[in-house]
Amino acid sequence: MSAPVENIVIAGAGQAGGRAAEALRARGFQGAITILGEEPHPPYERPQLSKAMLYSPDAPVAYIKQARDWSNVLNVRLETGAAVTDCDADRRTVTTADGRSFAYDRLLIATGTRPRRLAALENPCLEIQYLRNVEDALRFRKSVQHQSRIVIVGGGVIGLEAACAAAKNGCLVTVIESEPRLLARAFPPLVSDLVAAKHRSHGVNFIFGATVTGSTPDGVQLSNGEEVEADLVLIGIGVEPVPTVAERLGLPTAGGIAVDACGRTAASGVFCAGDAALQWSRCHGRAIRVETWANAQNQAISVAANMIGEAREYSDPPWFWTDQYDLNIQVAGDMLDSDHIIRGDERSGRFSVIAMRGSEVVGALSVNAAKEMAMLKRVIAANARPSRADLESPAYDLRAALK
Ligand code: APR
Repeated sequence: MSAPVENIVIAGAGQAGGRAAEALRARGFQGAITILGEEPHPPYERPQLSKAMLYSPDAPVAYIKQARDWSNVLNVRLETGAAVTDCDADRRTVTTADGRSFAYDRLLIATGTRPRRLAALENPCLEIQYLRNVEDALRFRKSVQHQSRIVIVGGGVIGLEAACAAAKNGCLVTVIESEPRLLARAFPPLVSDLVAAKHRSHGVNFIFGATVTGSTPDGVQLSNGEEVEADLVLIGIGVEPVPTVAERLGLPTAGGIAVDACGRTAASGVFCAGDAALQWSRCHGRAIRVETWANAQNQAISVAANMIGEAREYSDPPWFWTDQYDLNIQVAGDMLDSDHIIRGDERSGRFSVIAMRGSEVVGALSVNAAKEMAMLKRVIAANARPSRADLESPAYDLRAALK
């Protein structure tokens, strides 16, 4: 019999770390829980950083719990401003930057991801920003209030939500995207085009197939030889796992930290949840990192149960949403390398796209059709096999696929 779990350390005080701690208590774990987080804040949710917080000075930070409640209500020791800098897999300890050492029976790596840096702007001649934490969001919100000329590098979720906030505030916005279309990692071309048209109608300019190669005090230089004037550059070119803990434990980190369906890594007693976890996705047919709010919450809850001896496999299809102007777009599963069926009328501005590989429904995307997405998520999660003919029929009730 393995020794009882008495001491759980969670490296990372983001959403995954916070939700895991809550779940441990909710499932009756009575031992010690310590959360070590680099940021000065208690765990908070990030979607609002590129949404409500960019619009309203009153939009609160979406804390999972107020700081005092971690200790008072959950009896969790929360150490903020405490970056983990070392780990010892044999002695089962982690060490923070200030030299303190914490022993664990089980360790959860929930250190997540950090923005990929753009090497060409490491020594910039003008102001550059990234958008990942509360301070970044407050800084960018202030910047967009000055009707500045803003270059955004990256036409992904962060770049486009930021572009939306900047354009609405009267800034002159140019998005530089290295791919030939927007959100190419997640959207079919039809929806990339729709999003681009919506941004253009609000005055946003796009330059595709190019990246930034340098800067001057007046703007940026591009790989295609163009120069774009700017007061400020916001960089949103994706994220990468924070490597420290996994590296110190001797775990491979290429592409993420590999976990099984229970969240176990290859190191004894060590689990991983959230953005950094490289987990199997049936929809993608391969292991992927799932950088979403839903995964940070639900995978973490599931992994927490496994840390205290339950056997609970996690297989929710990836799901995320983005809000841009009057568009709410949600994506579940994988939309790439598949055949697409459109439900609803694209011209109405409210429709869904269903992705199929053979007889399998592997993905879905909804534009202003959240109710339909709720059903489509269930269809994908259940690995249901409705026929193409049924899916193509607007009269077909998706509930029938679940029976
Ligand atoms: N120059 C221009 N564009 C680039 C470059 C580059 N050097 N490198 C990458 N890109 C483009 C990609 O083609 C992609 O369209 O930047 C975009 C990055 O988009 P995402 O991968 O969606 O990453 P990002 O928008 O930074 O969001 C990071 O934050 O919203 C959360 O969890 C969500 O995964 C997301 C994360």
